Amino acid sequence: MRKVGVAILGLGVVGGGTYKILTEHREMYKKAYNADISVEAVLELRKERALALGVEENRIASSIAEICSNPDVDIVVEVMGGVEPAKTFVLAALNAGKSVVTSNKELFCKYSYELERVARHNRVGLYYEATCVGGVPVIRALLDNLQGNVITSLVGIVNGTTNYILSKMTNSGADYEEALKEAQRLGYAEANPTADVEGYDATYKLSILSSLAFHTKIPYTKIYREGITAITPADISYGKQLGYCLKLLAIGKNTDRGIEVRVHPTFIRTSHPLAAVNDSYNAVYITGDSVEDVMLYGRGAPRRPPPPD
Ligand code: HSE
Repeated sequence: MRKVGVAILGLGVVGGGTYKILTEHREMYKKAYNADISVEAVLELRKERALALGVEENRIASSIAEICSNPDVDIVVEVMGGVEPAKTFVLAALNAGKSVVTSNKELFCKYSYELERVARHNRVGLYYEATCVGGVPVIRALLDNLQGNVITSLVGIVNGTTNYILSKMTNSGADYEEALKEAQRLGYAEANPTADVEGYDATYKLSILSSLAFHTKIPYTKIYREGITAITPADISYGKQLGYCLKLLAIGKNTDRGIEVRVHPTFIRTSHPLAAVNDSYNAVYITGDSVEDVMLYGRGAPRRPPPPD
């Protein structure tokens, strides 16, 4: 049986979830794939967190160098978020001949060119499916399944926090501050929600998705961005009266005049499939010349444990 050793950098919500999935499904992977996938090491400053998850003490590494020099580690999973030290760690892993799996949209969006070059140079894999729309396989669909198409448009609800807030405002008439507090209480929004509510997170994801859809690198700095902080219950209710629903959309269009990319609150017809995507759910609606319309839908992110009262 093939042995595959994994190291996980960061045991937050995503890293802790990854650890649990890999350990709980280990027997299933052996049977289904004839591969023994074991978590050989973790890198986590909060040692008690690793121990609480059941990681053996001798598998808690004290540095990235220790992971890079561990011959039992084949794949490094980077789920720390943020640019540094994640970038340094990912480059070190690639240069040590390890394949890397990352969920870090900010890092991948800003440095994909460099990371992909280093991965190619070292002949190792670099996978980033979880950077956009959580476990929904939208990156794989764009990279593989939809390649025979000319994609003309990609419209997504790619941020769960803002979709939760707008859904709450729409369904209960709550104002923005109330809905944000509820999102924080339920563990959707971070204590500092700026990256989500100002649309940065969605621009990182749109940069990654539209680059794949339109076969070119689209820097996030070229994407028009407007968040949801100025939305009032009155905006939503006027839209409702006219048959529209308000969503934070990430929009990429490939037109005769060039590529258009923008993130902003948008009214869509209540009959549009994206209007039915509520709470913290995400969806991406892709139009290709051969397949016509395809919508991928699901959870965009795990829920953080709610903060203590
Ligand atoms: N903060 C992100 C969201 C997490 O709310 O969608 C998933 O990328």
